[in-house]
Amino acid sequence: MAEKTEYMKIKKEAFYLKEKLIEHGHRYHVLDDPIISDAEYDRLMQRLIDIEEQYKELSLTDSPTKRVGAPPLKAFTTAKHSFPMLGLDNAFSDQEIFNFHDRIKKNLNQENILYTVEPKLDGVAVELIYTMGLLTNAITRGDGTSGEVVTENIRTIGSVPLNLSRQGNIDVPDLLEVRGEVIINKKDFETLNKQRLENEENLFANPRNAAAGSLRQLDSKITAKRPLDIFIYGAGDIQGLSIISQNEMFEKFKGFGFKINPLIKNNITIDEALVWHKELELLREDLPYEIDGMVIKVDDIEAQKILGQKARSPKWAIAYKFPAMEEITTIEDIIIQVGRTGTLTPVALLEPVSIGGVIVSRASLHNADEIERMGVRIGDTVLIKRAGDVIPKVIKRIGQQEKNDHSPFKMPELCPVCNSVIKKVGDEVAYKCINASCQAQIKERLKHFVSRDGFDIEGIGDKLSKQLVEQGLIKSFADLFKLKQEDFMKLERMGEVSASNLVKAIEDSKSIDLKKFIYALGINYTGETAARLLAEKYNDFFEIRSATKDQIENIEGIGPKTSAAIVNFIKSPVNLAMIDQMKDAGIKPFNDSRHTQDSGALQSNKFFHKTVVLTGSLETMTRKEAKEILIDLGAKVTSSVSSKTDFAIVGKDAGSKLIKAKNLKVKIIEEKVFKLMLK
Ligand code: IVH
Repeated sequence: MAEKTEYMKIKKEAFYLKEKLIEHGHRYHVLDDPIISDAEYDRLMQRLIDIEEQYKELSLTDSPTKRVGAPPLKAFTTAKHSFPMLGLDNAFSDQEIFNFHDRIKKNLNQENILYTVEPKLDGVAVELIYTMGLLTNAITRGDGTSGEVVTENIRTIGSVPLNLSRQGNIDVPDLLEVRGEVIINKKDFETLNKQRLENEENLFANPRNAAAGSLRQLDSKITAKRPLDIFIYGAGDIQGLSIISQNEMFEKFKGFGFKINPLIKNNITIDEALVWHKELELLREDLPYEIDGMVIKVDDIEAQKILGQKARSPKWAIAYKFPAMEEITTIEDIIIQVGRTGTLTPVALLEPVSIGGVIVSRASLHNADEIERMGVRIGDTVLIKRAGDVIPKVIKRIGQQEKNDHSPFKMPELCPVCNSVIKKVGDEVAYKCINASCQAQIKERLKHFVSRDGFDIEGIGDKLSKQLVEQGLIKSFADLFKLKQEDFMKLERMGEVSASNLVKAIEDSKSIDLKKFIYALGINYTGETAARLLAEKYNDFFEIRSATKDQIENIEGIGPKTSAAIVNFIKSPVNLAMIDQMKDAGIKPFNDSRHTQDSGALQSNKFFHKTVVLTGSLETMTRKEAKEILIDLGAKVTSSVSSKTDFAIVGKDAGSKLIKAKNLKVKIIEEKVFKLMLK
């Protein structure tokens, strides 16, 4: 009897845990609005795993514990789609869209057509099949008629509901086939490739390939480790649910827990669609995921049915593509760049080509292994990809190289800058110049030191860093703080104003947050995250100096490679002397990451540590005045809106920045409110 009550209690707990995990998972993955910490979520999950392990009958297929992957498959099976998964016709100009609109008006014999427009996501199309609410099958698009069954892999994606529940008065349909795009965020793609580089695995060419490769894993435990996400944009067969418009479809799907793209616009005219296309193109670079255009769909489902389809595409939808971010050109030469840690990176000098409005004349070839894998040489025709601010990359060789008499690329034996020996270090793929005083390394270390996430000194770019190092003005970071206006003025093409601004910027940078200070030092494997973790753990650099490798490795999130690199750095007399010199020069890192130390009036304002953009003309003050006030309050004032912007303060006639801010859901503050906040 007692045992039975105990079991009932556990069963109830398992049910409760499952509900909570589903709710918090949905908040985290779909709504992007978590209300519990990751650690708390993990704790709930672990408890459910423990219970299910002990009471196997409580472990059902829709349990959140099933997202970790299932036993590997031997091969994929294929399955037919109930309705073919069609493609889209492409358009590249407003005129083509007007032609599309004219055809629709004519075929429907109607003047006013409303459209739903969606970003065209650059990922992998899949169909998810829910039977009586339960996810039972997931099939890739394949050839449109049938695809591979990837159910176990799809289950691992946090934003895929495993079981649908009744929404208000809407019953779960008997059958629901939804279609969407599996994607990987740009940032996650970069991280994944970085890991692959370290593990000497082939790199993914782009986020789409990474998503496709992750979805085609026979071992779903591997897929579970990949940061896949999914947006739902359409439907296949549906039984037991009525949907009359694309708009209603999204609303109902949202209700069932599916992730719907936030940049969808409903019920708009063709002219509005064209305006939005231009705005979306502006937003493109700042979005966390890749899009390659906009899909325009007739909103009314009945009208969609009347319009029908051609062999491979519907007549009621069209893709209005953005200019390609990939182009083809030839490699004119391959040079070697020496990075801040001495890593040699081969760079392709290209026949200049315009990619998405920017002229590209060089592209990274990553490393010698990648060149060999791609089989590229000077003279080859190659595909280049440019994405946002990152350095363009050579993706692959196009066609055969029968007539190419250049010999295959070989890494030099000596550093092209300082002539020191080149070595392959340990198990890394990279070749390195081992001379820490190599001018190229010093220059790159200096650039890293003054970068935004480091000392944040504006005005010291590639050219000036090079001059400072070549003129022998900077041998170590501490030298930077000894520079006077006259020193700068001796440099070629340096005016008095610029020189004085530089000295001022260097002076201003002396008050620096500890985490930025650590980051700026450019310790191997120590990026922004490790730097922040250290600052959260230790009060100041002096505490870090006396830490042992074990103590550092004990910090959650810091691995053995990083802790070894940090200890190596802090135990080096040269480095310690340099840090002492910086201290003598007046550098006093403050620590904002240790919450125990947070106090004072500065922190208690809304702008402290926020990134703010000012746009439009303010009535009661100049933008410059507003900027100064904000900086005094601890804000960072930037000139362009991005996903990192916290607030946009808008005056009269704010233009494209306001549009961008709205679309990126940046908090917009009008001048009147801004003034009130200052009080
Ligand atoms: S609708 C019948 N909507 O583009 C309509 N497709 O070229 C067919 N895609 O295979 C697709 N974002 O992989 C649609 N919002 C979106 C999309 C989208 C990306 C992809 C999808 C499809 C391909 C068609």
